[in-house]
Amino acid sequence: MTTDLSTKYDLKVPRYTSYPTAPHFHDGVDGTTYGDWLSALDPATGLSLYFHIPFCDSMCWFCGCYTKIVKQYKPVSDYLDVVLKEIDLVAAHLPGRFTAHHLHWGGGSPTMLTGDDWMRILDRIRARFDIAPTAEVAVELDPRTATEDYVKALSAAGVNRASIGVQDFHPEVQAAINRIQPYDMTAQVVGWLRAHGIDHVNMDLLYGLPHQTTERVIDMVDQAVSLKPARVALFGYAHVPWMKSHQKLINEADLPGVRARFDQFAAASARLVDHGYLRVGLDHYALPDDGLADALAKGVLHRNFQGYTADTAPVMLGFGASSIGQVPQGYIQNLSPLKTYREHVEAGKLPIARGFALRPEDVLRGAVIERVMCDLAVDLAAIAEAHGAAPDTFTAELEALKPLAEDGIVTLDGPRVTVTETGRPFVRLVAATFDTYLASGQGRHSQAV
Ligand SMILES: C[S@@+](CC[C@H](N)C(=O)[O-])C[C@H]1O[C@@H](n2cnc3c(N)ncnc32)[C@H](O)[C@@H]1O
Ligand code: SF4
Repeated sequence: MTTDLSTKYDLKVPRYTSYPTAPHFHDGVDGTTYGDWLSALDPATGLSLYFHIPFCDSMCWFCGCYTKIVKQYKPVSDYLDVVLKEIDLVAAHLPGRFTAHHLHWGGGSPTMLTGDDWMRILDRIRARFDIAPTAEVAVELDPRTATEDYVKALSAAGVNRASIGVQDFHPEVQAAINRIQPYDMTAQVVGWLRAHGIDHVNMDLLYGLPHQTTERVIDMVDQAVSLKPARVALFGYAHVPWMKSHQKLINEADLPGVRARFDQFAAASARLVDHGYLRVGLDHYALPDDGLADALAKGVLHRNFQGYTADTAPVMLGFGASSIGQVPQGYIQNLSPLKTYREHVEAGKLPIARGFALRPEDVLRGAVIERVMCDLAVDLAAIAEAHGAAPDTFTAELEALKPLAEDGIVTLDGPRVTVTETGRPFVRLVAATFDTYLASGQGRHSQAV
């Protein structure tokens, strides 16, 4: 039954880190719109800040992130100068001083920044925003570039959570993705993080990579768990060579097929659960004492551009090329080309490429999709009521879910939709039922499982 479903529902649907999803953003939303949105915010609103550092020192062939390979530091420090100016620019549009509750550095590899540059950016953030004493300060970290001194510098800069890119530990898999990172290297970095007070360690693991097998992903999980990460993200490798041309370096003949991917996910997931991790949404796993598990239990888990989060701040300001932000009025994405991003900031213009102004119906559907993706269950009537919509707003969607119910993916109980354990890997398909933009040609997506 399971394998049949994996073949039957080999559909390409979004991962819903926003609704509408980024391919629907358009250039009708620009820097002027964003400036107006910023100036209308209430200074009491909690902020989350995201900083994108689009540089790495070598290219992993599987990589789907927005990054550039640099062999010298100058482009990185020049870029940081622009980000500092962007912080000033955004803060100048805000009607007062705001407090940041969550800071996240992603990339690329934010760990390309030198210790001095970490201090430089944190000083600028502190000059423009208050940072809550309890703020989470999280960094995506590539262990291949970390040294103990570097970890000390991160700790001194206030970093308290590190997300480590692992992907897989098997040498053959690592060779096929051009990322040589032996287990001992990862273990050493985890040791340094803990020794210097960065206690919250997340790990990114992948399945669906070349040469991965069910046995190998089980080994991968066992090795990862031996390092006791508080959270694990288990992502399916998204093979999109039409968008990321370096992925063409991956031999497609070495990639597992749909059924094998499904089995790998199921095996890795079950193994994490056997090791005591709680399943969080689509692809995250957390130890019971981690904040993500707590947010799930309290029904306040959220999904944003970084994935699942316990962060409840209603505003996320994005800084850096290609970064995406969210304010109550809508979404905004910065320009990606480094040159145009820099030119805009240097001319004193908010460097926005596109965005999306939310209508009340988008907010309602986004709330339904977020609950489906986070809780794997939603009470459609209750959400409709909370948004001032008629209780029968989703009659057509409930009808559309009937075939999924017949296949055991969801159960339907009046207005309540619950994704079953069998249906868990298909949660994106359930969410997609509520997406009215999906049909309007947003291109190709990676596999749902
Ligand atoms: C920005 S990277 C993490 C930090 C650092 N650059 C590193 O690789 O260690 C974010 C994560 O995205 C995931 N990722 C990147 N490309 C992916 C792809 N094509 N499909 C699925 N996940 C991908 C990887 O697990 C990676 O660790
Ligand atoms: S996976 Fe991480 S280190 Fe590798 S190229 Fe992508 S962003 Fe850089």
